[in-house]
Amino acid sequence: MSVTIKTEDEIASMRIACRLASEVLDYIEPHVQPGVTTGELDRLCHDYMVNVQQTIPAPLNYAPPGYSPYPKSICASVNHQVCHGIPGERALKKGDIVNLDITVIKDGFHGDTSRMFIVGGESTKQASRLCSITYECLWVGIARVRPGAHLGDIGHAIQRHAESNGFSVVREFCGHGIGRKFHEEPQVLHYGKANTGMELKEGMIFTIEPMVNAGRAAVSELPDGWTIVTRDRSLSAQWEHTVLVTSDGHEVLTVSAGSPPPALTGDAARAA
Ligand code: MF3
Ligand code: CO
Ligand code: CO
Repeated sequence: MSVTIKTEDEIASMRIACRLASEVLDYIEPHVQPGVTTGELDRLCHDYMVNVQQTIPAPLNYAPPGYSPYPKSICASVNHQVCHGIPGERALKKGDIVNLDITVIKDGFHGDTSRMFIVGGESTKQASRLCSITYECLWVGIARVRPGAHLGDIGHAIQRHAESNGFSVVREFCGHGIGRKFHEEPQVLHYGKANTGMELKEGMIFTIEPMVNAGRAAVSELPDGWTIVTRDRSLSAQWEHTVLVTSDGHEVLTVSAGSPPPALTGDAARAA
């Protein structure tokens, strides 16, 4: 399968799925407090998706080739966990940083987005800086999206912003095309060279989801077969949006009333 160009009808369906994914994060935000377990956050999100939104949690039983079926409805990755953290009995503590990654399916279309949360509202200087620089990385990537740009422009901008701030970019996982399938072509790397890779065309939809580490870039997989951690146990952060290439730039689809404002816009993002 190659990269698909979405029709107007497909784009309309994707707008809905993506807004709903973002609304799950709006819903769960007040529950991310010291003492709550990641399993409880999973249960709350699951029930909200299934009973309130009538969406399907895409992660539940998701089994790409070589993986066992994912057992929960969201991913919850705490501190040195990079991505795909399986919710469970772990209780969050004040100062933990946690990524919640939500993918819903509505009318056959996927919306995929994640945010960082600082538990109890305060953490170390390093942890808060990692979360905000990673958010800027997402937005400097988004700022590059327009017809005629190349995938490498996105990766290059993200890598430069992360590394110039003393952080490193995870190489093993990337953004992805998305639509009727959870993971479609193309792969959207978060590092690379400007002016290389596939040329972007109006109607493409893909995610940008940089994972940025406070220490070294290397990661390992835990014996659960899913959870990815930094090899040096340094902190890791990630933010994700699903983005449409429009005739004159881009539209961020995973937005809702509670979305945090863009980190940088226009010239500031292009200059970063
Ligand atoms: N939501 C993740 C992504 O952004 C994928 C999670 S796969 C799962 O691509 F099975 F772990 F949920
Ligand atoms: Co994704
Ligand atoms: Co995701």
